[in-house]
Amino acid sequence: MLKDKHIVLGVTGSIAAYKAAELASRLAQEGALVEVIMTRSAQEFVAPLTFQTLTQRPVITEMFQLLSEMNIAHVALAQRADLVLIAPATANTIAKLAHGLADDMLSATVLATRAPVLIAPAMETNMYENPVTQANLASLVARGMMVVEPEVGHLASGRHGKGRMADPAVILAMAKQALGRDGDLAGRRVVVTAGGTQEPLDPVRFVGNRSSGKMGYALALAALERGAQVTLISAPTRLSPPPGAKMEFVTTAAEMRDAVMGSIAGADALIMAAAVADYRPAEVARQKIKKGPQGLTLRLRPNPDILMEVAEYRRSTGKPSVVVGFAAETEDLAANARAKLKAKGLDLIVANDVTSSDSGFDSDTNRALIMDRLGQTSELPLLAKSELAGQVLNHVVELFRNAGFFTSK
Ligand code: PMT
Repeated sequence: MLKDKHIVLGVTGSIAAYKAAELASRLAQEGALVEVIMTRSAQEFVAPLTFQTLTQRPVITEMFQLLSEMNIAHVALAQRADLVLIAPATANTIAKLAHGLADDMLSATVLATRAPVLIAPAMETNMYENPVTQANLASLVARGMMVVEPEVGHLASGRHGKGRMADPAVILAMAKQALGRDGDLAGRRVVVTAGGTQEPLDPVRFVGNRSSGKMGYALALAALERGAQVTLISAPTRLSPPPGAKMEFVTTAAEMRDAVMGSIAGADALIMAAAVADYRPAEVARQKIKKGPQGLTLRLRPNPDILMEVAEYRRSTGKPSVVVGFAAETEDLAANARAKLKAKGLDLIVANDVTSSDSGFDSDTNRALIMDRLGQTSELPLLAKSELAGQVLNHVVELFRNAGFFTSK
């Protein structure tokens, strides 16, 4: 999605400027046309040549010199930008932007652009927490700019606190979301579930499944990049939360049920990619179960079927407009998927074959068929889970369109 996008990367005077080099490199590797503007103080930390080498483009360091020598006007740069990204952004630059100053190439470009602006602050904790900086950031956010919150960690001063620039991977993810903010899911609220629920047996053991959460997290990320507001209800996984998603962490099927039912009232779409345990142990031992020669017999009780409850809720409220289920199958993929689609009142079902190691649980790829209410089926080849997520969302957008959602598009 970054291919051939014009991205103005503003680098200001912070020790975190060295991390901007990694960001520039990653943007360029993904095909973006990166135009770096460095403030004077940024050049005290990193040489312009570093960015020139990484982006294969001239770096803008002086407003007036470049206007005459290279015929790059801030207005032209501002106009062709698809995104202005300032990383790191110092308290000083943030203050200038908040007050509309235009005394260097970067602040002038921000003032002149209509592109989305994304800011990654980096500074000492006290400067960051100072009410003036907070008020400046709030005023930028109120005017539509996006801010990637700094992290808590070790700072250049040797102290520990909030103010360390966010990781370049997080900034990159937010840059993609900023670019997609007017995408085909803009303003839509999408709830996604991911991971495998765990049903406790005793304080140290549980009944679970092999879901890694990769499919659900890929869906959440893809929806964010198309402009949706995403709530990701996640059973335990080893994955990092997609930046920008509202996270709700759950463990058991009952907790997932509560989280789903609590979030669908305001949702336009629900996508249930989680592997929800159909059964839970009838009794949960308070102490660790001891091993013994007599073996162990487990009695299991059925869990609530979340999608069935959603169907009932939808019958009385009409919300959410679109409900997508998954089917993890080891045989008769299409027939089983069709039965689940009907029984659970779904608009769409994504049936994946979970018998091979490159598909279904814990793989980076998936082989699936997508079936709608009318029985129309698209059989997809082996795809990266990110690509399958894109295909599923194409169907969701189509369903919204058919429901008359996108009257202005
Ligand atoms: O997480 P990964 O490692 O990436 O693996 C992805 C996946 C294989 C888990 C995913 O692609 C998938 O197939 N998810 C659904 C797994 C599942 O529980 O399938 P099912 O056929 O048992 O359930 C059908 C649907 O009902 C699912 O949408 C499920 O979320 C939902 N369900 C199931 C049980 C239950 N008690 N309540 C439910 O709502």
